[in-house]
Amino acid sequence: MAKDVIIALDFPNRDKTLAFLDLFESEARKPYVKIGMELFYAEGPQIVRDIKARGHQIFLDLKLHDIPNTVRSAMRSLAGLDVDMVNVHAAGTRAMMQAGLEGLCEASGKDRPLLIAVTQLTSTDEARMRTELLIDHPLEDVVAHYAANTRDAGLDGIVCSPLEAGKVHATCGEDFLTVTPGIRFATDSKGDQKRVTTPADARDLGSDYIVVGRSITGAADPVAAYRQALTDFLGETV
Ligand code: C5P
Repeated sequence: MAKDVIIALDFPNRDKTLAFLDLFESEARKPYVKIGMELFYAEGPQIVRDIKARGHQIFLDLKLHDIPNTVRSAMRSLAGLDVDMVNVHAAGTRAMMQAGLEGLCEASGKDRPLLIAVTQLTSTDEARMRTELLIDHPLEDVVAHYAANTRDAGLDGIVCSPLEAGKVHATCGEDFLTVTPGIRFATDSKGDQKRVTTPADARDLGSDYIVVGRSITGAADPVAAYRQALTDFLGETV
């Protein structure tokens, strides 16, 4: 099964993003990258095409959550961007997730992008989930339940904390992908993430992909930080 480090390109515009990617120009291995709302809404779909043309695999992290018909149509549009992974919120229901998958299949057939679902954001802790969202269950159970809904809808995996990866695999199967943000090197600050894990711990916990933002983009030497994440997560020396 593919395991990889995905760098979150949380930059405000094209110039800053391409300046960052230029740092990796002479790297044999072009990093798998994540384009999120900030960059996509600022620059539109052309930034996706341009980064793809540079040889990167792309996780387009737009977290769709709308009525099923709208998500189906939106996924048809996203499939046209030749991205490798897209996502929805599991809270949108199984019907919405199935519709999203149908949209991708209609547009891309067998070569469709992977479709994963967000369960609970890693910035949400259990107290906030219970008191603010009125979901009065243990966080782990909510994640496991949303994961089962996602698998039942036919999707490929979920976004979750590495701390939940083992339970998700036990419930949904080893082939069900766990894509895990909330990653920090042991020496980093947590920022706004409440539940964080090192790349090596994420590997040991069973994550399939780790998503790393500020620990690489904000590092004094981002290429060295990326290589460190690869070494820690994959056990590969690069
Ligand atoms: O900088 P940092 O490593 O915290 O960035 C994490 C990235 O993963 C951000 O782009 C954030 O939007 C994303 N993400 C997350 N938690 C989720 C889903 C996505 O942190 N549950």
